[in-house]
Amino acid sequence: MTLLQRFSLYSFIVMVALAAILGSIISYGLMAHLLEVYKNDTARFLQSEGEENIQPEALRAPITDDLRYTAVGKALHVVQETMPFYRLNIYNRQGIIIWSTDRALIGRREDHDKEGFDRAVAGATSVYLKKKTAEQGADAFEMFVPLRDSNGAVYGVIEMYESLAQIEEIIRAAQVRAWAVIVLTFLILYAIFYKIVADASRLIQRQHRELEEARHARYTEIIEALVSAIDAKDEYTRGHSTRVAAVAVHIGRAMGLSEEELETLHYGALLHDVGKIGIPDAVLGKPGRLTPEEMDTMRSHPAIGMRIFQRLKSMPEEVLQTIGAHHERPDGRGYPSGGWDGVHLFARIVSVADAYDAMRSDRPYRKALTREEALAEIRRCTGAQFDPEVVRALLSVIDEVEFEVYGGRALASHSSGNGMHW
Ligand SMILES: [Fe+2]
Repeated sequence: MTLLQRFSLYSFIVMVALAAILGSIISYGLMAHLLEVYKNDTARFLQSEGEENIQPEALRAPITDDLRYTAVGKALHVVQETMPFYRLNIYNRQGIIIWSTDRALIGRREDHDKEGFDRAVAGATSVYLKKKTAEQGADAFEMFVPLRDSNGAVYGVIEMYESLAQIEEIIRAAQVRAWAVIVLTFLILYAIFYKIVADASRLIQRQHRELEEARHARYTEIIEALVSAIDAKDEYTRGHSTRVAAVAVHIGRAMGLSEEELETLHYGALLHDVGKIGIPDAVLGKPGRLTPEEMDTMRSHPAIGMRIFQRLKSMPEEVLQTIGAHHERPDGRGYPSGGWDGVHLFARIVSVADAYDAMRSDRPYRKALTREEALAEIRRCTGAQFDPEVVRALLSVIDEVEFEVYGGRALASHSSGNGMHW
């Protein structure tokens, strides 16, 4: 996951969490507020309708005869229409049920050692939230409302059970709308936020890329300058470093190296002979065989090359190893160490590429070998001088190598030459 993806995911989680918290708070607050408003309105309405329609004298005795019972029921009809109650009792001050939706209760003293009844007798309205029961199918309000005469004296109490199914539906609808607004708001916020971060991230990436490219360009320039310095030492080997690098990259690709590894290999191959800068021209450009002393001088070029770059901290270790070990051999007859086990793959690749290009190029002491001659020599020395795996890779891409590196060049035919010290 990229940094931007991680950031987007985490910020999305935070946004969702915030939206959920805010939504819950608003949803709960909305419900509490609507219930409170509804409760107060209901109680006030019940009280005013009750006081208007049920006179003090009506509550002197239980209302049992049909006519009066129906009359009270009709008076309460307007209440029933506004807030569909499912049980309603009217008490006198003494707690006797004077009228009830349940006629069997009339004349009885209900169990009204209830706080609500006592408070109503004292003049206060109480509303209790009753949890859903089978009877009403939804949460309900049980309210005790005092009935007061024109002097303010309490002459009766109405106890009403009202189902909250209707108001709950209204609350739910309000909550759904609130949730929709919150979710939408957060989505828009997140989209804006994401765009800002994504734009900033792209800008940073572009700047980083440009910096990288600039650094890379400087690096390449320095290496090119060094390669020109190597070439300037010996006109016969002009272009050698560049061709070795091209051949090495072909081999490296055939061996499955990554693009990053190929780039390092390319640098290593370009610079493999950088130590030749420190070899006297008399030795480097000498036609014919070198004396043993001159050979020793010549063989010091990997060490000189390493010394040149050792202090350069930005130089990849693989490049140093390539410079230092490109003349090592599997049979231990290479130099400078004569070892093979620790020799880096890039050095093994450059060793083959170096030899192949040396044979395919004119030298002061011989003409260039043909492709077949050079390959025959490479094959002959495989295992002793060259890593078999690297040779196998070269053979697998030899057509490309020839076409792209040596293509179009008029190559002179065979000349036996007098020793090779590539
Ligand atoms: Fe070399």
